[in-house]
Amino acid sequence: MSNFNDPKWWRQAVVYQIYIRSFADGDGQGLGDMAGITARLPHLAELGVDAIWLTPFYTSPQHDHGYDVADYLDVDPRFGTLDDFDTMLGAAHDLGIRVIVDIVPNHSSDEHVWFQAALEAAPGSAERARYLFRDGRGTDGELPPNNWQSIFGGPAWTRVPDGQWYLHLFDRTQPDFDWRNPEVGDMFEDVLRFWLDRGVDGFRIDVAHGLFKEATLRDQVITEVPEHSADSAMVERQQADEPMWDQPEVHDVYRRWHKILESYPGDRMAVAEAWTSTAASMARFIRPDELQQTFNFNWLLAPWSAESFAEVITDTLSHVAIVGATPTWVLSNHDVVRHATRYGGGPVGVARARAATMAMLALPGSAYLYQGEELGLEQVEVPQEFWQDPSALTTGVEGRDGCRVPIPWSGQVPPFGFGPGSGQPWLPQPPHWDELTVEAQAADPSSTLSFYRRALAVRREAALRAGDEVTIISSDDDVLVFSRGDLVCHVNCGSTPVTVPAGEVLLCSGDIPGAPDTATWLR
Ligand code: BGC
Repeated sequence: MSNFNDPKWWRQAVVYQIYIRSFADGDGQGLGDMAGITARLPHLAELGVDAIWLTPFYTSPQHDHGYDVADYLDVDPRFGTLDDFDTMLGAAHDLGIRVIVDIVPNHSSDEHVWFQAALEAAPGSAERARYLFRDGRGTDGELPPNNWQSIFGGPAWTRVPDGQWYLHLFDRTQPDFDWRNPEVGDMFEDVLRFWLDRGVDGFRIDVAHGLFKEATLRDQVITEVPEHSADSAMVERQQADEPMWDQPEVHDVYRRWHKILESYPGDRMAVAEAWTSTAASMARFIRPDELQQTFNFNWLLAPWSAESFAEVITDTLSHVAIVGATPTWVLSNHDVVRHATRYGGGPVGVARARAATMAMLALPGSAYLYQGEELGLEQVEVPQEFWQDPSALTTGVEGRDGCRVPIPWSGQVPPFGFGPGSGQPWLPQPPHWDELTVEAQAADPSSTLSFYRRALAVRREAALRAGDEVTIISSDDDVLVFSRGDLVCHVNCGSTPVTVPAGEVLLCSGDIPGAPDTATWLR
């Protein structure tokens, strides 16, 4: 990879998110696993990514597909063993691909030994003090301690047999830790060291803005009732008063983690998943003594409009500049509707997705890709009998399963080479994905896969050399034009063709530069 030896490799890295259950199945059980990843790494090397981010593969009952961790220091047998992890890590490094693993510090699984001990211990015990157990309200404590709602629907509190309640901002099988208890921080520092010692290059910090809650656990002042939509349980959070999110104490944790990362050779890093409401609060996570990166979700939330894209670019770049950090860009992940579908779906949605991806890849900083977007995959309507997302199961509204359908690799019929043999994967793949397999697209120069390969290659040659200075040349509802050094990126979000600026066309997301739903790079 171009920047494997760059001491600050993550600054301009293209990071490919692997949702482990759905990437590649090595043993034919219908679930992706470590062996599957190892076998498919050449696809990622050919694509040209600098790093992979692996979603949780730790021992877990899988109620939230691994974001409910029962043992932070082991691999779930469904996904392999620690040896399989080491093999995958070594193979990735041999190909020049860095490896970022997910760390889930806001909550554990209810099957974690600490939570099991807490359930057995009495109210007020040291075991309960690692989580947020409280007495209820009402005459007999029959009402939850406060009015907080879980992100996945329903109250954020569950009652245990002795009458106390415990807090879970997500599923009831995901009890929140009490980060005001130093034992919790100590445990996670050991977890970081365990994986750093094994050689990982970084961490993606799950719910990084959630660890601390206002100490009183007071009621939330409700100003707007969030509605569940297929978009994302995470994106719906619109409350102005948020005593459970983004508390200032969290930043001390990241200052300590910064020192741990710095104490290892090789420029280790961490990226925060922090759904903060403004670019200013986002930037607080990437001050020089805190985390290296944080996801810039405003880019993902922007609608298909030149003006919105320009606004996010300007806002992001100005706020990261204040703290001297580099920006990140992301359009899809395992929690949101795939961007081809968000932008309208069908051929138009895919064309727009390619164009937005080109805008993202032209910008300075790091870009995060989600598995399958390089194939132009769209959100799948998963039949209700297959739903597994805990938010869908709680609310009865379709959730995030549709962006998690296993990757089609080859062949004419499901499982499309996802695993050996004809065993079907954990979520059904649409039959029309025969045209979207890696095998089919690799052979077609006009495919989305071929486009992504070219885009990453041209980015390395042209965009990375163009410096970090971005100027918005024009933006109205329809057309966005910005320059980065001598590179010009032109995106037509409108419905009529326009003339692109003069210059050598380096890459076009469609057939004709300047056509509607098309991006062009020029020099
Ligand atoms: C992850 C989700 C997960 C939630 C709870 C999120 O930020 O990305 O997939 O359900 O955290 O861990």
